[in-house]
Amino acid sequence: MGKRWLKERKREYYYRKAKKMDYRSRASFKLMQIDDKFKVLPRGGAVADLGAAPGGWLQVAKERVGPNGKVVGVDLQRIEPLKGVVTLQGDILREETVESLQEILGGKADTVISDMSPNISGSYSTDHARSVELCSHALDFARKTLRTGGSLVMKIFEGDMMGDFLTEVRKSFSMVKLHSPKASRSRSSEIYIIAKGFRGEPDTGAAKAADEE
Ligand SMILES: C[S@@+](CC[C@H](N)C(=O)[O-])C[C@H]1O[C@@H](n2cnc3c(N)ncnc32)[C@H](O)[C@@H]1O
Repeated sequence: MGKRWLKERKREYYYRKAKKMDYRSRASFKLMQIDDKFKVLPRGGAVADLGAAPGGWLQVAKERVGPNGKVVGVDLQRIEPLKGVVTLQGDILREETVESLQEILGGKADTVISDMSPNISGSYSTDHARSVELCSHALDFARKTLRTGGSLVMKIFEGDMMGDFLTEVRKSFSMVKLHSPKASRSRSSEIYIIAKGFRGEPDTGAAKAADEE
């Protein structure tokens, strides 16, 4: 049995399982596995999902935060309405989208999750660079939006810019790990950055110091 055959079987297994359980995408299982291990979706919490279409992660996030939690999702594509979840069509690279999302959230988020993918060009280094760009925007959004102690989960395509990017993430979070959930296709170079223990907005410290003078 070839490696490729096994990968296809795995892909099909999660595809069928998602269909059977009424999840909008196979990706749902990746978030479930991440949350089972790292506990990033607190009951009653507020979650912002970047790159949320068609909505598999939104479904899992809503289930995990429960009826008192809040889930908002944004994507370039239209997201079919989902009960108990607020969605928005827009580009997270645009300031107006960031502002609208923050307005909908109406306060700080406990968790920011991003499964954003660039359009795949087929060139490994181009796709990596675009993925890092999307992740930088997810990190900026998280820095502006998370409550202190909050979590950030993001998909990144591996490559040579990853080390520098992780250094940047570590500046804002006390725990940063790389994780590949079982449901992730082993063929792809995708991996998830799990960052917990947000240290607070970068300028909060300076503002506090000024207050204490
Ligand atoms: C792999 S899909 C997400 C699947 C989703 N997590 C689910 O479970 O259904 C990646 C998404 O990222 C979105 N995306 C890429 N760039 C974006 C951007 N700049 N702003 C918002 N969404 C973006 C794409 O439109 C695409 O729908």
